[in-house]
Amino acid sequence: MSDDLQTIQADTETALAAASDLRAWDAVRVAVLGKNGTLTQKLKELAAVPPEQKRERGAALNRLKDSLAAVIEARRTALEEAALDARLSAERMDVTLPPPPRSTGLIHPISRTAEEMAAIFGAMGFAIAEGPDVEDDWRNFGALNIPAHHSAREDMDTFYLAAEGRRPVLRTHTSPVQIRTMLGQEPPIRVIVPGRTYRADHDATHSPMFHQVEGLVIDRDITLGHLKGCLIDFLRAFFGITTLPVRFRASYFPFTEPSMEVDIGWNRRTGELGSGGDWLEILGSGMVHAKVLANCGIDPRVWQGFAFGMGIERVTMLKHGIPDLRPFYDSDLRWLRHYGFNPLAPATLHEGV
Ligand code: DAH
Repeated sequence: MSDDLQTIQADTETALAAASDLRAWDAVRVAVLGKNGTLTQKLKELAAVPPEQKRERGAALNRLKDSLAAVIEARRTALEEAALDARLSAERMDVTLPPPPRSTGLIHPISRTAEEMAAIFGAMGFAIAEGPDVEDDWRNFGALNIPAHHSAREDMDTFYLAAEGRRPVLRTHTSPVQIRTMLGQEPPIRVIVPGRTYRADHDATHSPMFHQVEGLVIDRDITLGHLKGCLIDFLRAFFGITTLPVRFRASYFPFTEPSMEVDIGWNRRTGELGSGGDWLEILGSGMVHAKVLANCGIDPRVWQGFAFGMGIERVTMLKHGIPDLRPFYDSDLRWLRHYGFNPLAPATLHEGV
């Protein structure tokens, strides 16, 4: 091979070895075999070579062209394999590792309490019922034996919505779902109703939007004893105190007769639940009023039952020692990291909720 061709071969091999990625490799390829490449140039010059040397020169040029093309292609394969190896080792993932601690997010305490209630009442045979946030005046008040102009409508700081005819309201309690359930299915009935409720009220313990859970049991021979047993069992399971004192105190609700407020024992000074000689009101309850049953087409001489309702935020604050209601709705991650729950450890009775 003549000197000039040897130089091209040596230069190309050096440049290829130095090319550490596909871009550098491509620059070498173009510099040799491209339109103005060094070897291409020599091939163009072949026309000017004297006829007696042309044959030999032409053959040498073609051999060199074939061998350089093969070397260049081999380098490309090597670079591609190296790039793939680098990517595979950079993206290596051990699928047997447990997830990093916070990557799964946290369950909000309100959701957690609703889950715990579903677990406890679920074990007693209750199903979950739901209703809309926007109710009509009749289901929110009238059917529950709260007549027009009754002071309970004022007490509840109702949000009325502007509309013609029937007056829609943002439901002030979950009790209208009692009406929906009784109209929608035959007794026996055993449901709890967790959901959003609304009242025009705002301070450290009240929010215009909050959550309640309602309970409704309708059957043939339901007595006050069933109500008491059910709520005592629930409260002891929910607060995790088997000896939690529970007191039933006569009260008034338009939709129950008799009606009872339910208190639990606590220490007013320390805030500790379960002992201390003081009483804390937790929820409202009673035997479903005969008029409410009749309003739903259920014969009160055949069927009776009990109902109860409580605030989800309130029992959550008590159970976990949360002092202020407002951060429940602030979406502040620092608060959630402190009070949130592990989504991989859902509420079950078996471990104690
Ligand atoms: N709805 C009542 C409230 O929001 C709570 C309540 C009391 C619900 C007694 C009931 C009940 O089902 O029987 O204040």
